[in-house]
Amino acid sequence: MNGDTDMSTNTTTATSNVCLQRLIDSAKSDHSKHVSVICGMMAKKAGLPHNERRFISQAALLHDVGKEEIPLSIISKPSALTPEEFEIVKTHTAIGFERIAETARILAVAAVIALEHHERENGHGYYHMAGTDIHPYAKLVAVADVFDALYSRRAYKDPWSVEKIRAYFTEQAGKQFDADTVTLLFGILDEILPLYENKQ
Ligand SMILES: [Fe+2]
Repeated sequence: MNGDTDMSTNTTTATSNVCLQRLIDSAKSDHSKHVSVICGMMAKKAGLPHNERRFISQAALLHDVGKEEIPLSIISKPSALTPEEFEIVKTHTAIGFERIAETARILAVAAVIALEHHERENGHGYYHMAGTDIHPYAKLVAVADVFDALYSRRAYKDPWSVEKIRAYFTEQAGKQFDADTVTLLFGILDEILPLYENKQ
């Protein structure tokens, strides 16, 4: 993984946080909830099956997500919009499409990660996937997940020392974890330890 990939990974992470948060914020407005319920009821009236109604209701919650990126001064302007302001409001449909499509792509990756993050390089994980069968992103999460668990305080254990964690990952490289992914972790250890300052 080169520097460019690292940068794009960081950018993707930041974007995903923003995307998901905007979707959630938008879905929580009274307007979105009302539209969702009304659509669900109309779909029922139309005789659509339960599963389809659920899809419509949930999707309708997000119809105005693009408005999250329109200036508040325009969205909540108490008087009539100027033609220029109306042009800006109109962009919320295309913005919404892009944000939802982008989030859908992120969620597709998230779904694979959720399924595979307890797989082990040697096939001794939950589903006995091994090596290249395991998605590389799931391998990243598997390493990050265990690192965080070991380096954090839990009700049942103290944080492990960095030395002990290093020894554990070194011993498990090629067994529990993908060896290249362990190397990546070691390469960023000094940068991530400050995340845990005052939390140990
Ligand atoms: Fe898990």
